[in-house]
Order: sequence, then C-alpha cells, then structure tokens
Amino acid sequence: MNLTGRTPQGAAPVLELEDVTLELGGRAILRNTSLQVNQGEFIGVLGPNGAGKTTLMRAVLGLVPAASGTIRVLGQPVMRGNPSIGYMPQTRSALAGRRVRGRDFVAMAADGHRWGLPHADAKTRADVERVLDLVGGRALAARPLSELSGGERQRLLLAQCLLGNPQLLLLDEPLISLDPHHQKSVVELVRNVQQELGIAVLFSAHELNPLLHALDRVLYLGSGVAALGTVDEVITGPVLSRLYGSPIDVMRVKGRIFVMSGDVEVEKHDHEHEDDAHGHDHGGASGHGHSHGHSQGHHHASRDGHTNDV
Ligand SMILES: Nc1ncnc2c1ncn2[C@@H]1O[C@H](COP(=O)(O)OP(=O)(O)OP(=O)(O)O)[C@@H](O)[C@H]1O
Ligand SMILES: [Mg+2]
Repeated sequence: MNLTGRTPQGAAPVLELEDVTLELGGRAILRNTSLQVNQGEFIGVLGPNGAGKTTLMRAVLGLVPAASGTIRVLGQPVMRGNPSIGYMPQTRSALAGRRVRGRDFVAMAADGHRWGLPHADAKTRADVERVLDLVGGRALAARPLSELSGGERQRLLLAQCLLGNPQLLLLDEPLISLDPHHQKSVVELVRNVQQELGIAVLFSAHELNPLLHALDRVLYLGSGVAALGTVDEVITGPVLSRLYGSPIDVMRVKGRIFVMSGDVEVEKHDHEHEDDAHGHDHGGASGHGHSHGHSQGHHHASRDGHTNDV
C-alpha cells in the first residue's frame, strides 16, 4: 500500500509536497506530509470540517506559506498568480445576486481585463468562447448570473478556471448547496473536461459517493495527516480511524460507501454548513491583482494570504 502516492513517473508531477508542514494561527493543519499528484489525475479531496482542504489549496496557490518543506507545481516552487493553476474558491454564493451576464462574468477572470468583455482583446474573447464551449456554457453566456441555477453558475465558474489553459485545477467544494442531480452533472462535467484536456484536478467535497465514479485517487485529510491512494487503499477503517482520531467503520452498500463513527455517518454529519455568510460583494473584477484562474470570490483571501474562505 502506498499512502503517500509516490509513483515513479517520467514527467514532473503536477503537484509535489515534500515534507510539508502547514500552520495557521500557530496550529499545525498538516504535518510533515509528502505526496505527489500526477498529470491527468482526478483527486477527490475529503476530510472533516477544518481538516485543511481549503488551506492545502491556498498553500498550493502560494497564499499560505509552508511552515517547512517544499511545495512544487510542475516542478517549480509555488508562486502567487501561477497561470498553470485554475482555482474555484469555496466562498461564492454571493454571486447569486449578480446581474452581470454569464459571458462577461467569465471574461472578468481573464488577466488584465477588469471591465469585462467589451474591452477585452481578441485573444481573450477567443479564450472566453473556448472555455464556454468546454463547459457547454454558450447558452448560459447571454443570461445574467442571478437568473441561473446553482449548477449553471458552477458551469461558468468552471469556465473561468479554465481560462489560459491551466494544468491543475483546484476546485474547493463545487458541490456545496447543490442537489444530488446537479451534483452528478457537475462531477460529470468536471470529469469530462479534465479527461478531454488531460489536466489534473483536486476536487474537495463533503461526501465521497458523488465522486466515486469520477476520481482516480482520494486525498483524505484529518488530524494533521494526509492519506493519498485509491479508494480501496484509503477508505478503510484503520486509515480513517487514524485521520479522525477515533474508531471508524467503513460500510459498502450497493456500490456506495459509508464512513461511520459508531452509528453516525461522519461525512453527512460533519458538513451541514452553508458557504459564505460574509455578505461581501465578490463579483466584479475589483483589481486586487489576482490573475485569471484565481477568479471571483477570494479577494479578501488574496489581500493578506491569511484569512479563511469559510
Ligand atoms: N487565518 C486562520 N488563522 C487561524 N486558523 C485558521 C485560519 N484559517 C483557517 N484556520 C483553521 O485551519 C483549519 C483548517 O481550515 P480549512 O478551511 O482549511 O479546513 P477545510 O478542510 O477546508 O474545512 P471545511 O470542510 O469546513 O471547508 C480550521 O481549523 C480553521 O479553523
Ligand atoms: Mg474548506
């Protein structure tokens, strides 16, 4: 069994953690962790609230510096605004009230185009159309965000992440507040786009089951520890008991997997919260210097690199 996910591979891993410790507020979120994510992998990122899923993504973006160890993206040390990474932050429900048209919203995330499509250059406009096609979002592009369903907005957020051809997507809780039907279509969409482009995806979620058919490996976080491997390697009583710090049973029923602590299903129980209670206006390109791929909804995060999205 290989829980660190080290696989011999010719190409540079898309993401590499070497003995990484992440700390926030003097507390270790992740301790001495080494792992590799390879190009073209779909990784489901799981773990209880506060396990560090968002923090890990922010560390990969260079927004949370590693207390020790090294993080590399495509063989290079992390840097802010890395064009190889597309990021969908966890906080985004404020988008629901925005009247901006879908196409302009996608264009807002393009580097250097703060005022949306009318002023974007031809190259940016072509890229916007390309990513809209990738997500099947042409029909949505003419409509205001406020008239789209949560699942439809997710499509456009995914389109934003794809601007500029990133090799790694960090999607933080794309399924939050979607019903099971829309969850399924978002997972399928991401899987299709990921395979078509041959890129790697870190997709965090509260529940494993919606991702089961899409993921290549699971990255499970808990108690400062990370386990990366196949579902059969990671989703086991012994591994999860270590991550949760209490006895965990894993039950498989009709192709679904239930992670239980006693008679409580931990994944369900842990994650009832809604995203974004801040009430900030996250929309618009407000010019905090983020590049494309680091799109709407994390301006407060990119200012000081320490605030939390939740
Ligand atoms: N700026 C900060 N200062 C101190 N602690 C922080 C800060 N931001 C986050 N934390 C803490 O770090 C831990 C990891 O948070 P993180 O948001 O990464 O967890 P998560 O796995 O994404 O959780 P969720 O499932 O709720 O999204 C939490 O205990 C959180 O309270
Ligand atoms: Mg989170």
